[in-house]
Amino acid sequence: MKLDKIITGGTVITPGGSQKVDIGIQGEKIAAIGTDLIAQSGGTEQIDASGHFVIPGVLDVHVHLALPFCGTVSSDDYYSGTRAAARGGVTTLIDFAIPFAGDSLQDAADAWQKKADGKALIDYTFHICITRWDEHKDQIEGMIESGFSTFKEFMIYESEGWQSDDRALFSTLEIMKKNGTMLLVHAESARILDELIARHHTPELMKQYGARLHPMSRPNFIEAEAIQRAVMWCEITGGQLYIVHMSTAEGADIVKNAQMRGVPVLAETCAQYLVLDDSVFDQEDGHLWACCPQIKKQEDVQRLWKGMRSGEVSVVSTDTCTFTREQKAMWEGDFTKIPMGLPGLETLLPIVYTHGVRFGRISIEEMCRKLSTNPAQIMGLYPKKGAIQVGADADLAIIHPTHEIVVDPSAMETNADWSPYEGWSLAGFARTTLSRGDVIVDDYQVVGEAGRGQWLPRKTAGLVEPLTSETNQT
Ligand code: URP
Ligand code: ZN
Ligand code: ZN
Repeated sequence: MKLDKIITGGTVITPGGSQKVDIGIQGEKIAAIGTDLIAQSGGTEQIDASGHFVIPGVLDVHVHLALPFCGTVSSDDYYSGTRAAARGGVTTLIDFAIPFAGDSLQDAADAWQKKADGKALIDYTFHICITRWDEHKDQIEGMIESGFSTFKEFMIYESEGWQSDDRALFSTLEIMKKNGTMLLVHAESARILDELIARHHTPELMKQYGARLHPMSRPNFIEAEAIQRAVMWCEITGGQLYIVHMSTAEGADIVKNAQMRGVPVLAETCAQYLVLDDSVFDQEDGHLWACCPQIKKQEDVQRLWKGMRSGEVSVVSTDTCTFTREQKAMWEGDFTKIPMGLPGLETLLPIVYTHGVRFGRISIEEMCRKLSTNPAQIMGLYPKKGAIQVGADADLAIIHPTHEIVVDPSAMETNADWSPYEGWSLAGFARTTLSRGDVIVDDYQVVGEAGRGQWLPRKTAGLVEPLTSETNQT
């Protein structure tokens, strides 16, 4: 068989286990997996992976690039964001197309496509955000026809014009049920959150507590109540629900209990909720760490790792929404004005590999499930993405088991002059990243061309197979 490239000598990781095998690539696809590929194919280009793990390219299914938000625009666009992604072994991302005033759902998709055009290094698609139910409800099925199978509603962000009410959540879930598609929800309790923010928003408290008011005004029940309510509408309608950026122990308990009852709800958490706690706000520049939902407590961190092992946390993503120090400085001492969001694409795999696999919390196979297989299946991209098997896209990351790199914003592709993980020593950066057979990262440096990334059409989303006691243990 004529192969274009062979990855040799690596330990190849699939959810089923690890194997020392070679991977043969023909064009954009994996064409062969075996032990004697070099002998079979003669003078093919070889990529030496000896001493390394070869893993499926990571899918970061929660990303915001060049997002107008909190009075500014997030600083990673499709150029810097997808370069950062590639360096972190991410080969597919899903952003959120948000319709602004007067925009249809299609206008939002078109606007986001323009952001990606000519800039994207890796493949991508969008979740379509429903922000004005009465205007958008009749456009949903047209978007499904056009290749979008995931929709998003925010239970907060009235001031951004994005907030959905229970009527929209309930009715969208009915449409998801009918079409085999999925609703993603940002679950926080809007009215109580507004009330608590108002109570904390006094000159005296702001002087006394500064950025610590950000977590102080957002107790865990803000997320828990909203998850509970969304799960209720999911249970009643039977529509597939996916809780984005779940950050609380209470949320994990609610999702787990619902899954045990057979409710079609899934949840992701983000890397930051697995490794950071609210002590970050005690630092002088603690406002930099403000994101939404905010970083929680150590008990939540431990509960989310447990959820990774027992199944109620299906996916780890990043909620990348990068702001520079200058942008974050817009807060000027007022916690309600901090641009909320963190960089993440470049460090997702290193964080989960180092703090998950190296620290003995999860196996490397389990890591690949949370970063590749599950997101690909749940988002309707499997097995084109997220699989090391013949016929799948040759999207692969080659990582060294122990080689650590100290996080230094000045040496990163991410467009930020700070990092939540600055100074952390992390293994798991991609030595080599392949996207549809092209080497886009070589020797830890980005070598791929902007604009080669492709939009990915999708038809379905949600649970591929029902949860079993094996996938969701007590
Ligand atoms: O802080 C965050 N997460 N910014 C992006 C918007 C969102 O809620 O995902
Ligand atoms: Zn959100
Ligand atoms: Zn988000």
